[in-house]
Amino acid sequence: MNASSPTPAPTQASTTATLYGGVTNRRVTVRDLAAAKQRGEKWSMLTAYDALTGGVFDEAGIPVLLVGDSAGNCHLGYETTVPVTMDQMVMLSAAVVRGTRRAMIVADMPFGSYQESPAQAMHNAARLMKEAGVGAVKLEGGERSARSIELLVEAGVPVMAHIGLTPQSVHAFGGYPVQGRGDEAAHQLLRDAKAVQQAGAFSVVLEAVPAELAKQVTEQLAIPTVGIGAGVDTDAQVLVWTDMAGMTAGRVPKFVKQYANLRAVLGDAAREFAADVSAGSFPAPEHTFK
Ligand code: KIV
Repeated sequence: MNASSPTPAPTQASTTATLYGGVTNRRVTVRDLAAAKQRGEKWSMLTAYDALTGGVFDEAGIPVLLVGDSAGNCHLGYETTVPVTMDQMVMLSAAVVRGTRRAMIVADMPFGSYQESPAQAMHNAARLMKEAGVGAVKLEGGERSARSIELLVEAGVPVMAHIGLTPQSVHAFGGYPVQGRGDEAAHQLLRDAKAVQQAGAFSVVLEAVPAELAKQVTEQLAIPTVGIGAGVDTDAQVLVWTDMAGMTAGRVPKFVKQYANLRAVLGDAAREFAADVSAGSFPAPEHTFK
């Protein structure tokens, strides 16, 4: 299904089936995710930045795909997420929507696209929904973003919040340190989690948070928590796809598990192609028109 074909309304039956295999003929919705939390079903989220990889993950049954502003470092060649623009997010998100049929597509609101005011947040969330066709947006910040989340939710925009380590604040943090360590920081994280739930967020990402604290937050919230570097007890887990599949060059963070070594596989394929061309063995007769 793409941005131009309407998503059928969820039925009672489809919100009680499992996310895996239970939702096949329409996109996953916020109601499906709420029902999964009720059942205690854990789910997975991956980032995607284009139609091709989005389609692969959709076919693999990943229920939620995040067009993360991690596109900045993982796809567009920037050092951080800070330079990513709204125009870039709209273009990447639209591609992921076009390449998928079933997954809920969540688009990140990039740095500078929502911090000025709730009205600015609304303007840019509307662009992601109208121009790219995404089903939800994600923005960083707990208590500090609550007013914007409230306005978006009132206007009918599903919002995923993101607290703990918020990469758009990399320059303020002086890097990517683990958050929520110590009593005061832990209390602030809990306040942030409750504030975004109260504001109407349908889910919240907890990034780089001690596992025991993430467990407490998960137990205290009615909405699903999505962990990244937050231990095993969150309701869902997200990884950046290039980390998960071994495309990232160099060191990956401690919380990443690499499920493949795609960088080596692709590099080997490219080297083999170049060697065949140099040797004159490609194209062979079977690749040649007569
Ligand atoms: O941009 C991103 O990929 C993210 C995830 C790390 C949650 O925000």
